[in-house]
Amino acid sequence: MWGGGDYSLHTIGAKHVIDNTGELALEALDAIDVAGQAGSFQLADFGAADGGTSIDLVRRIIGNVRARAPSRAICMTYTDLPRNDYSALFNLVHGGRPDVKSYLEEHDNVFVYASGTSFYLPIFPAQTLDFGFSATAMHWLSRLPGRITDHVHAVGASGEELEVIRGHALADWETILLNRALELKPGGRLVMSNFCIDEQGRYLGNTGGVNMFDTFNRLWRGLAEDGTISEAEYQITAFPQFYKTVEEYCAPLTDPGSVVHQAGLRLESAQTRVVPCPYAARFAEDANLERFAVSYVPTLRTWSETVFSNSLDAARPEQERRDIVERFYRSYVDLVRADPTGHAMDYVHIYMVVSKV
Ligand SMILES: C[S@@+](CC[C@H](N)C(=O)[O-])C[C@H]1O[C@@H](n2cnc3c(N)ncnc32)[C@H](O)[C@@H]1O
Repeated sequence: MWGGGDYSLHTIGAKHVIDNTGELALEALDAIDVAGQAGSFQLADFGAADGGTSIDLVRRIIGNVRARAPSRAICMTYTDLPRNDYSALFNLVHGGRPDVKSYLEEHDNVFVYASGTSFYLPIFPAQTLDFGFSATAMHWLSRLPGRITDHVHAVGASGEELEVIRGHALADWETILLNRALELKPGGRLVMSNFCIDEQGRYLGNTGGVNMFDTFNRLWRGLAEDGTISEAEYQITAFPQFYKTVEEYCAPLTDPGSVVHQAGLRLESAQTRVVPCPYAARFAEDANLERFAVSYVPTLRTWSETVFSNSLDAARPEQERRDIVERFYRSYVDLVRADPTGHAMDYVHIYMVVSKV
């Protein structure tokens, strides 16, 4: 992800997704006996990036807990990978961004922490977490288990290559859930919104118009064909991501034979929703092609750039790598500028509420 607070500045769509979970999160919170329990209320955001996209949801959750348990201390823990930009996160939460109003200004007895432990590992001691949420993060796999030779994403993989990634992704999902099953208090709740393949086969950037991942692939392939990057660099490029179907998301939580179910996690609800690409929506209103082309591609770039730049041979000088990546995204901007029809990164998510028995 981009650091320095740039992540949330360029991902207003991701914020819309989180704001969308507000009602679900408050309903899930209502099922917790917030006032009747001793000790602090432990709240977590798994895969928080710079915390900017979840700040208003956290405000609503804290407001709800505070109203029901006025004297209870609230601990908010942001979790992400070790390389996440935690300085940007703390700067934002502690009021250092003039464009963001932090909940810390509104409530006292609220304590903010961060953990750089992956959600593939235990993050909290057993049975200490009251409420966890996570948005748009758990499609990142623990690792890429194999190659995708003729595409850059699992959505374009096929045959044996696809099955290897699918098997790994399902095992990863089980690991995430088992760790949360350990951490949650009995009666605790998890609210998650994750990228999925919905009932109509739609997924991020593939909702009927131009397929975003096919576009990435075509432009990256083009750089291999014109000799800018090597065939080996093209072949090694793949997002360590997987978009599960609704059934794949729900099975471990509904099948009494699964280890996750046996560990006490239950599915309370699951629904899919499409959040329209805010950049395409604005373009539909103002028809400002230049603004669309130069704002749409950077939102894709926030989360995809590292995948392309890390696939380039480490022996290339730093500046050369930067130039190649720059040229790649410029070609995407040029493509949109030449014909904007159908370009949009609509967000396709599954929204799940999970309880611990
Ligand atoms: C697209 S961002 C989403 C950020 C924020 N939750 C949102 O919805 O706007 C995905 C985040 O997940 C984090 N992430 C990826 N793999 C992770 C892992 N194994 N453990 C914790 N965080 C992870 C990334 O570092 C990144 O900050």
